[in-house]
Amino acid sequence: MATFRLLARDHKIVTQKRIVLIIGGGIAAYKCLDLIRRLKERGVAVRVVLTRAGEQFVTPLSVGALSNEPVFTNLFDLNAEREIGHIRLSRDADLIVVAPATADLIAKMAGGHADDLASTVLMATDKPVIVAPAMNPRMWLHPATQRNIAQLKVDGVTVIEPAVGEMAERGEAGQGRLPEVPELMERILSALGSSGSSPATSTSITRGAKLPLAGRHVLVTSGPTHEPIDPVRYIANRSSGKQGHAIAAAAARAGARVTLISGPVNIADPANVDVVHVETAAQMLQAALSALPADVGIFTAAVADWRVASAEKQKIKKQPGTNAPQLTLAENPDILKTIAASGSQRPGLVVGFAAETDNVTDYAGRKLKSKNADWIVANDVSPETGIMGGDHNRVHLVSANGVEDWPQMSKEGVAEALIGRIAAHLHASKDAT
Ligand code: CTP
Repeated sequence: MATFRLLARDHKIVTQKRIVLIIGGGIAAYKCLDLIRRLKERGVAVRVVLTRAGEQFVTPLSVGALSNEPVFTNLFDLNAEREIGHIRLSRDADLIVVAPATADLIAKMAGGHADDLASTVLMATDKPVIVAPAMNPRMWLHPATQRNIAQLKVDGVTVIEPAVGEMAERGEAGQGRLPEVPELMERILSALGSSGSSPATSTSITRGAKLPLAGRHVLVTSGPTHEPIDPVRYIANRSSGKQGHAIAAAAARAGARVTLISGPVNIADPANVDVVHVETAAQMLQAALSALPADVGIFTAAVADWRVASAEKQKIKKQPGTNAPQLTLAENPDILKTIAASGSQRPGLVVGFAAETDNVTDYAGRKLKSKNADWIVANDVSPETGIMGGDHNRVHLVSANGVEDWPQMSKEGVAEALIGRIAAHLHASKDAT
């Protein structure tokens, strides 16, 4: 494999990462020009394959000038075949990224077609593939596209969900936009094993075939808890579990052994994760304690702060002419705080979440101290943000080093970025010892 040795600022030798970027035909292709520039700034070599439709939106000349590499367009380009060939093109890379991925390109991938350079490279590769679809919202929601996307996920392809917003076509809005460049950067750098761009550290990590969290145990809590009032009623909250489950999935993809302790949610268990299903805060705490020791604890669950002091064994019946029943509440255990205070069993890195509706970073800073966490990921869950139950998140990483504002990303984007950051932190701590 063609690798390049670079001398990093800290004088460690690092191996330059190389990606193949396949640019499909879509108005969002212009974002790839900025993406190439930023990847190069982060020391990533980018070779571009332009599909025939992609060439209608960006030119080989502009792409080549930014990437400073030859641009590949034609499967039967004899010069390129002699010099590099499509097999080597796909194998020389550490990662293949398809952005924007059109419905047609996705269908070709799902069907295993290889009738142009892009689809042939994708069929020939043995490297991880990230696909960033962008298309009209109706095309995205079409059962054929959704079927193809599901197939790609089964095939091990990472799919960056399209963002929601206005389309290029006037009056069209919905899910289908290519996510903004900072999110694409996060996902790509995280897949390459480096920390992200805007939520950045300047550390560059070298890794070979070994995944960045291989050999680590990551504990994640996710979802709401249900606190019974009687056998049929309970106290709950609006947490969907999407963020915690995405973090567990990202940690597993990064090679960690993951224990996910999930409250009642309506989403599927992530692949390659040990899931413990619980209902109440007390059960979640027991499951978390039983899962120790762990290298990292990530507490995303929206644990109910109170439970009914003595839940009724029988269904509470309406009594005509009497007042409504009075519920006496008792405080639930704080799972994060208990685990962070568990002495020798305390995970080396304890990450909490703070869901706030005002003074977000201020309250998060207080939680960092009061719960003895190392990091708090804070977000604004006021109803107008649409974060609670939604697919996107805008977070701030609060630590002893201060507050970092991360750009708006999908919950999967936040998960990848956080796991990338955790991997960078663990590697840095290991190097320091
Ligand atoms: N948390 C926990 N157990 C609890 C309450 C919270 O483990 N009983 C964790 C959450 O998973 C999260 C962090 O503590 O990582 C902060 O949760 P949050 O609900 O924002 O804070 P609370 O401590 O409940 O404070 P408040 O509701 O007053 O803001």
